[in-house]
Amino acid sequence: MSEKAFEPPLNRPVLPGDARSDYERYLNTDELLALQKSSGEWVHRDELLFQVVHQSSELWLKLAWNDTAAAAELVAEADVAGALRLLRRASMCLRFVTAQLDMLEQMSPWEYQEIRKVLGHGSGFDSPGVKELRPAMARLGEAFHEARERAGLTLLDLYVQGREHEELYQLAEALIELDEWLQTWRIRHYRVVARVIGERVVGTQGTPVEVLGRLIHRVEYPELWDVRNELTAKSQAEA
Ligand code: HEM
Repeated sequence: MSEKAFEPPLNRPVLPGDARSDYERYLNTDELLALQKSSGEWVHRDELLFQVVHQSSELWLKLAWNDTAAAAELVAEADVAGALRLLRRASMCLRFVTAQLDMLEQMSPWEYQEIRKVLGHGSGFDSPGVKELRPAMARLGEAFHEARERAGLTLLDLYVQGREHEELYQLAEALIELDEWLQTWRIRHYRVVARVIGERVVGTQGTPVEVLGRLIHRVEYPELWDVRNELTAKSQAEA
């Protein structure tokens, strides 16, 4: 008997489900690809672009907040190295979400007005990803400050003596990195909105776009931004 006869039929699916292959079964591609309007339902073909950017943003945000929440738990358990590993990924998710905003600028602002008519009262304020991310970042901030206090350090001490407290210093920098990416997303989102619908209009839930302009100053860890001012002041006082 040839060796081939003993080879398992590797192309046959073994996972539960009705889809043709294990790839499609594991990833639920039938369901996933049915989550966008079909061409017969489009008011404009760029609805596909619009839905793909938003839906994929929600997926990356889901990974970002899950990793951030898990990192907060690891910090509470004093596993800073484990938390750093996850926070690198969470920041990367926000980079991807920011990068894909570029795609929306490929729509014609006039033709986008067609799509806007079918969005109802839909608004990014109801984004589940952003709504979950902010409390996860808050829990991470609390865990970080508890760890810093356990080490008997003020935030200023931690930065001045960063080399002696390498892990905690890196954790502080991972937090500000995440915060900076969220803020970078907001700034970029604001410019995309200005380019697509204008700055002196109101959104689908009645929010003036100017409000988004003010929101770009929002940060989750103001104390981490503030300590930079203290470092500059300290250095100047010592000069
Ligand atoms: C053409 C594309 C887009 C337009 C014209 C747009 C427009 C707007 C407007 C006008 C607001 C203010 C609230 C309101 O709707 O009244 C808003 C808020 C928001 N949008 Fe968008 N948006 C776009 C793309 C996106 C994408 C891709 C995301 C990704 C998740 C997103 C997430 C959000 C979030 C989270 C807010 C709340 C404000 C914040 O947390 O800073 N938007 N958007």
